Amino acid sequence: MAKGLFITFEGGDGCGKTTQINLLDEYLRNKGFKTLLTREPGSKGLGIKLREILLNYDGEVSPVAESFLFLADRAQHVDCIIKPALEEGVIVLCDRHTDSTVAYQGYGRGLDLEQIHRLNKIATSGLKPDLTIVLDVDVETSQKRVGAEKDRMESAGIEFFERVRNGFLEIAKQEPERVKVVDSTQPIEEIHKQILELVGR
Ligand code: TYD
Repeated sequence: MAKGLFITFEGGDGCGKTTQINLLDEYLRNKGFKTLLTREPGSKGLGIKLREILLNYDGEVSPVAESFLFLADRAQHVDCIIKPALEEGVIVLCDRHTDSTVAYQGYGRGLDLEQIHRLNKIATSGLKPDLTIVLDVDVETSQKRVGAEKDRMESAGIEFFERVRNGFLEIAKQEPERVKVVDSTQPIEEIHKQILELVGR
């Protein structure tokens, strides 16, 4: 049994995850907890190479191939980084994880959800986050936050991001115990406060 705590942050591009995960990390460290701040795709090693392809490759990428690349990154991440940290009692804070594949490749690209759930299970060997925070923001606001310089995924278009947003909200409806939605149009400090309440619980 893992001794640590596994918390994931999810949401569309430009939802403010990075700001909030950093604030939570700082808070927990100040309280004396050992944390590991990590991300998908591409935390380190092989993951960095996969991230490079996933975000910057400019040729055609089939949705299934795209899913397998995210899943390959996840399997490596879970086995080599997340599980060892949890076994040492560390609080792992992960910027994106399984729900991103469900929202982006499932709801966004239209791949079969059941199949993605099965593949996620294989990639994680069944490990599940103790808590997942979805930062929810309307697509118009998030697109403004992303700005004009977009990577391969960010260039997908408004309708795609509407489906992704809806996907995250659906996941939260289906797993209300694990997945909590926070309104990310609020001021940074207010969002942080609500996240601390959820983590405290
Ligand atoms: P990143 O630069 O990390 O974006 P963000 O700061 O918004 O997290 O890029 C990750 C991109 O990859 C992002 O557009 C979401 C996408 N993604 C998927 O499509 N499927 C996945 O399984 C994961 C983990 C990410």
